Amino acid sequence: MIDIQGVTKVHKRGETEVHALRGVSCQIEKGALTFILGPSGSGKSTLLYLIGALDEPTAGKIIVADRSLGEFSESERDEYRRNDVGFIFQNFNLIGNLDSVDNVLAPFIPQGISSEQRTRAVELLEQVGMGERLDHRPNQLSGGEQQRVAIARALLKQPSIVLADEPTGELDSENGAEVFSYLRRLQSNIESTIVVVTHDQSYVQESDRVVRLKDGRVAE
Ligand SMILES: Nc1ncnc2c1ncn2[C@@H]1O[C@H](COP(=O)(O)OP(=O)(O)O)[C@@H](O)[C@H]1O
Ligand SMILES: [Mg+2]
Repeated sequence: MIDIQGVTKVHKRGETEVHALRGVSCQIEKGALTFILGPSGSGKSTLLYLIGALDEPTAGKIIVADRSLGEFSESERDEYRRNDVGFIFQNFNLIGNLDSVDNVLAPFIPQGISSEQRTRAVELLEQVGMGERLDHRPNQLSGGEQQRVAIARALLKQPSIVLADEPTGELDSENGAEVFSYLRRLQSNIESTIVVVTHDQSYVQESDRVVRLKDGRVAE
């Protein structure tokens, strides 16, 4: 479980302060799919980056697996980001001259790729319906297909937490729905906690867990 306790975040830009989060408390259940919903500017991305330890709260605590991220040393934070968290971004962030398999493997290139990892990359691509597009480059894929490659990439390290920031923000509704149907299918196979930020309510289903943000506060 991810326990968010009274989290405040003030972004400083020169002389001006932006209060992005104003005392947010909520719990994100382990192994579930949770949506963070809210209008633009409500603090969704800020909260997601704090959970991913890409940024630090101004006040409050984020507790992951019984440890406060604020107590991590610099190297523990690095390790957490590298091993425990998989990120999925709005703009896919694929590498243009690599095919689907190599894009999934790209984060591991510095350490060297094992044949098991390559096999698993192919399996993950098959699970997101990309088995026929293994040797395609990003510019040969639709936006929805590119995002499915990015999902496979985020899952290769078997992260305990997957964080997605507006993963369908650049997709039309058909591609967006497809990306979510694969995410949901994967959710039932893997044990990762998945947190998805979106302003688009239409992907949320009745039974989903939802944290609603408004003006930096939990609305519901
Ligand atoms: N790095 C930053 N520096 C200054 N202000 C920021 C920064 N990141 C976000 N903000 C501001 O914080 C508020 C919340 O932003 P954000 O978390 O990106 O909201 P959302 O993802 O819901 O659109 C906005 O007013 C935004 O302009
Ligand atoms: Mg955002």
